[in-house]
Amino acid sequence: MEKLKKILIDESIILITFGKPFNKDEKKSKLKISPITIKDSLMYQVAYIVNNQSFQENIKEKALTKYVTNQLHSCFKNSNIFTTNHDYQVFVNKSEKVSIIKNNPTKKMPDKLVHNKKKKYLIDKEDRPDFLIKLGIMDNNYIVIPKSYAKFRQINRFVEIINDEIEIFNDKIRVVDFCCGKGYMTLATWFYLKHLKKKQVDIIGMDLKGDMIDYLKTLSYKDMNFYEQDITTYNHGPIDLAIALHACDVATDISIIQAIKHKAKVILMVPCCQHELFTQITYEPLEPLLKHGILKDKMTELLTNTLRGLALEAMGYQVKMVEFTSLEHTMKNIMIKAVYTGKKNKDALKQYKEIERDFNVNCYINKLFTIDNKSSD
Ligand SMILES: C[S@@+](CC[C@H](N)C(=O)[O-])C[C@H]1O[C@@H](n2cnc3c(N)ncnc32)[C@H](O)[C@@H]1O
Repeated sequence: MEKLKKILIDESIILITFGKPFNKDEKKSKLKISPITIKDSLMYQVAYIVNNQSFQENIKEKALTKYVTNQLHSCFKNSNIFTTNHDYQVFVNKSEKVSIIKNNPTKKMPDKLVHNKKKKYLIDKEDRPDFLIKLGIMDNNYIVIPKSYAKFRQINRFVEIINDEIEIFNDKIRVVDFCCGKGYMTLATWFYLKHLKKKQVDIIGMDLKGDMIDYLKTLSYKDMNFYEQDITTYNHGPIDLAIALHACDVATDISIIQAIKHKAKVILMVPCCQHELFTQITYEPLEPLLKHGILKDKMTELLTNTLRGLALEAMGYQVKMVEFTSLEHTMKNIMIKAVYTGKKNKDALKQYKEIERDFNVNCYINKLFTIDNKSSD
């Protein structure tokens, strides 16, 4: 079953049919499963017949593997699975041993599923983004692998936001991805700026995780350098575009501080798990809210991002809080977008200090002001 599950998870399914029904109680026949998109999400339509009556239902993308294996366990002895890569014949014997025969593909994904007509992605199949194949987001035919749709949309949303600010940059752009992890956004930014916008790029990815950095180095893409390095020690020179996606807790603050210190023109940060202030916050008028851990957690996140926004404004950036991805996909959906204007905002600094005082907190981001005072000494 493991091999079968891997096919269902990793490949782009076009059609699944089932044969040799064996369960007389269920009397299910002509069972077919095919992909459909509903409100921009991939789902599967299941159609079958029981007692000459047709039935149809939709199942979620994540439920497919369980559904297919259940059918092979309880109702049918074989199945044909058509994917964009191969056709598979699956046989289950009496002792539930699964054997699979692999053949060349005979079916093509319907156009309406390949091209999402409602939305044109900035990086898509026709751009031949090899990096998405290497990252396991597309298959060898540049078709998005179902389980990777959310990441594919996230990557595209990210470059969409970069594209909104593209006029700010010169032809040569230095990008730093703080806490790059597996490098999804690093590679997407590189591909978009270099191959689609034809910019000269110098891309840097940094992370503490040596295995990920080693993997990214093996890709040997030109104009990209990866460092296994703590971002607090960033020492690679001035930055045009600073990015960080889900740099945990204060790693977002460190990234913002490094970006400002190295004169980033645009800063794009999608923070996550901001716990720093959770144990610090006290504010009497909000006690009814703060006594509930779950609400306090949300308040911590809002307060931390508010302070980050004010700190950036105080340092001469225009700040917008942007919806990054739909809440349907992740709760980590706020992006802090900051564009350098050079106009330091004294009111923002005052508000920053008042909020820290009123809520009795001391946020990591305020180290910025110490650095600023030192540099203006
Ligand atoms: C949740 S992952 C996000 C990775 C990537 N940006 C993404 O979205 O796929 C957070 C990453 O931050 C890295 N990290 C945390 N603190 C760091 C630090 N001080 N210096 C470098 N990397 C750090 C971790 O190693 C981890 O890979």
